[in-house]
Amino acid sequence: MSGTRVFVTGIAGFLGSHIADRCLAQGYGVSGCDNLIGGYLDNVPAHAVFHRVDCNDFKALSPLLKDVDVVYHCAATAYEGLSVFSPHLVTQNIVTATSGVVSAAVSKGVKRFILCSSMARYGTNAVPFTEDMVPAPQDPYGIGKWSAEQLLANIAETHGMEWAVAVPHNIIGPRQRYDDPYRNVVSIFINMMLQGRQPYIYGDGNQKRCFSFVSDVVDPLLRMATDNCCVGEVINIGPDDEFITINELAATIARLLDFKLAPHRIAQRPREVYFANCSASKARRLLGYQPTIKLEEGLAVMIDWISSRGVRPFSHHLELEIDNGLAPKTWSEKLL
Ligand SMILES: NC(=O)c1ccc[n+]([C@@H]2O[C@H](COP(=O)([O-])OP(=O)(O)OC[C@H]3O[C@@H](n4cnc5c(N)ncnc54)[C@H](O)[C@@H]3O)[C@@H](O)[C@H]2O)c1
Repeated sequence: MSGTRVFVTGIAGFLGSHIADRCLAQGYGVSGCDNLIGGYLDNVPAHAVFHRVDCNDFKALSPLLKDVDVVYHCAATAYEGLSVFSPHLVTQNIVTATSGVVSAAVSKGVKRFILCSSMARYGTNAVPFTEDMVPAPQDPYGIGKWSAEQLLANIAETHGMEWAVAVPHNIIGPRQRYDDPYRNVVSIFINMMLQGRQPYIYGDGNQKRCFSFVSDVVDPLLRMATDNCCVGEVINIGPDDEFITINELAATIARLLDFKLAPHRIAQRPREVYFANCSASKARRLLGYQPTIKLEEGLAVMIDWISSRGVRPFSHHLELEIDNGLAPKTWSEKLL
């Protein structure tokens, strides 16, 4: 519906900027905020109104939500592994920030609020994760996401705002940070191999994951703005095939780059979930979810994007709050 006004938190981020682009293409008015702790400023679409505002700054954020119809809350410190060592930093931008955005949205009469959660909420449940499982998050990031979901449902239901929760898998695609040593395994592997450097693999590398290409995630997310069947629902978004190990992922990227792979192997990260994969049945049923980009195609697009933008040194831009010998050497000794 043109005339719809959308506000995207984390609009300089990877997913938020793609959602903003697609909303603009739909004819929606788009604005958003970001504090630039992650993401890239040049991700923000030219036709979106950008505010450099922290979601924890309630006074600055609240007026920005006046006359907004739909909020996509994408802002987060999306650092699952790091959350074990910097729980305060990570959760303040997930739990406290979410309560601020939800409260501001309710106070300004926003109609619908869509929260981007994470499959970290499922933790050690058996795969594939289904939405009816009792969450069992294993780290502060997952605990924060699950808490944020409950805050949203509670506050929204009390005050009469429509809500929905999207639970994406690992997402890949252009605009993802690739110079951040704390997250985004695909981007890190590509950035390192393009520099002729061997990647680091934590543990035995047989941890298994699924990866979605960003456009395949944005399609169902866009429907969540207008489709009433998603209201009050938690919906996984991500493919439930091409479930691969980190070793296979590294080998696939190396093959696409014609790189001779001999990865560094270091200790498994504390609290890392071994198998993580969601069922997409509910998204198929409610949102017509139908991924179109196979993993290798997506990896090739990312390789082209990082190559054309240029490889970058990794920036160890976040502090370890707890540096007690349990943190991976890649972070405590800044190996990347
Ligand atoms: N990328 C994935 O694989 C993935 C998978 C599942 C869920 N998610 C979720 O999707 C959302 C977007 O993730 P992404 O990959 O685009 O990450 P991203 O880091 O690229 O984007 C998040 C943006 O939020 C901003 N931000 C963080 N804290 C903020 C705050 N307090 N105030 C304002 N802005 C703030 C960051 O600067 C960043 O630009 C996150 O909620 C993440 O948890 C991502």
